[in-house]
Amino acid sequence: MNDKLRLETLAIHAGGAPDKETGAVAPPIHLSTTFEHGPAGERRSDYEYLRERNPTQDRFETMLAALEQGEAALAFASGQAAMLAAIGSLPAGSQLLIPDDCYTGLRALCDDFLPEKGIHGTIVDMGDVSAVRAAMTPSTRMIWAETPSNPQVKIADIAALADIAHGAGALLACDNTFATPVLQRPLALGADLVMHSTTKYFGGHSDVLGGALAFARRDAFFESVFHRRHITGAILSPFNAWLLLRGARSLPARMAWHCRNARAIAEFLAAHPAVEAVHYPGLASHPDHAVAARQMSDFGGMLSFRVKGGRDAALHVAGNLRLILNATSLGGCESLIEHRASVEGPNPLSPQNLLRFSVGLENAEDLIEDLRQALADGDAA
Ligand SMILES: Cc1ncc(COP(=O)(O)O)c(C=O)c1O
Repeated sequence: MNDKLRLETLAIHAGGAPDKETGAVAPPIHLSTTFEHGPAGERRSDYEYLRERNPTQDRFETMLAALEQGEAALAFASGQAAMLAAIGSLPAGSQLLIPDDCYTGLRALCDDFLPEKGIHGTIVDMGDVSAVRAAMTPSTRMIWAETPSNPQVKIADIAALADIAHGAGALLACDNTFATPVLQRPLALGADLVMHSTTKYFGGHSDVLGGALAFARRDAFFESVFHRRHITGAILSPFNAWLLLRGARSLPARMAWHCRNARAIAEFLAAHPAVEAVHYPGLASHPDHAVAARQMSDFGGMLSFRVKGGRDAALHVAGNLRLILNATSLGGCESLIEHRASVEGPNPLSPQNLLRFSVGLENAEDLIEDLRQALADGDAA
């Protein structure tokens, strides 16, 4: 594939060549779990058994590596599986720096599963470069950034974190789920690894679970994660790879609309008297707006906001929406809102009055009218 092609073109054509056998323009789904050997028992192609790799997932990985400007990519059964494969490939005794605001599943991995591998997560404010530098120890092997972060939409300076990581011989990994490569390409800013919950914007229709890693280099670390996926078995299914390939084709167009709607809603909420604060990096009031503007081409479809009056007021607003659905997850066509503290387990880090909002592809005015009536009703309560 011509590496001068632009992202919108790559999203459609990278990994998307017509089927060699039939000329089919839509990629075929190869469901076979096994591939015929040659007469001497040798491999006849790149494929042997589906848990190692399969042609449909290979197409998805080719597309993702192209979009993220990496040398390679690996697709997993979920975002969590991708995260665990990457972090679990660090040597025993490693320290991992994780953000103070991040997807709750990363904290759960650090609390419940990584210590048994001798890997320890330390929480740090990734937006504070000097705090990150101070948290580095001789055993720090990886900095895990999530920018924008879930759910408080904090921003971390990817290039600055890459410098800190590399100065200490560590890797910088970046969860790029919220931004997608359409808006931000961490590898080009110096990160070594990008992670996606492809369940979100890549799928785009709330109907596929998947995860992926894109690697700056096809090196020993890549090989070790590839081996881990093969042996532990958390590979993406062919059908889900096919759905994600399909989703990727419209990803750039969808992201433009998500960004447009989110900006309109952020501005509406910022001016609303029942709203205490809006977290959206596209607003000049966001503390890291300048960093976001430098490293992102637009500000994304995710925002969160704090409702005046605490937990009850926030729950009341979420419960009074008529169009915007009260449900977890993000990145689909339909707008979703969620009280994150309620789903973060016994020790939630999210503020109790915070609602996370995945702004969908509806007409922004309809979404604003729904918010207006729910917030007015909250006022009256
Ligand atoms: C930012 C982020 N990273 C990772 C994950 C985990 O992905 P999955 O649910 O596909 O396992 C999520 C899930 O919500 C997420 O929001």
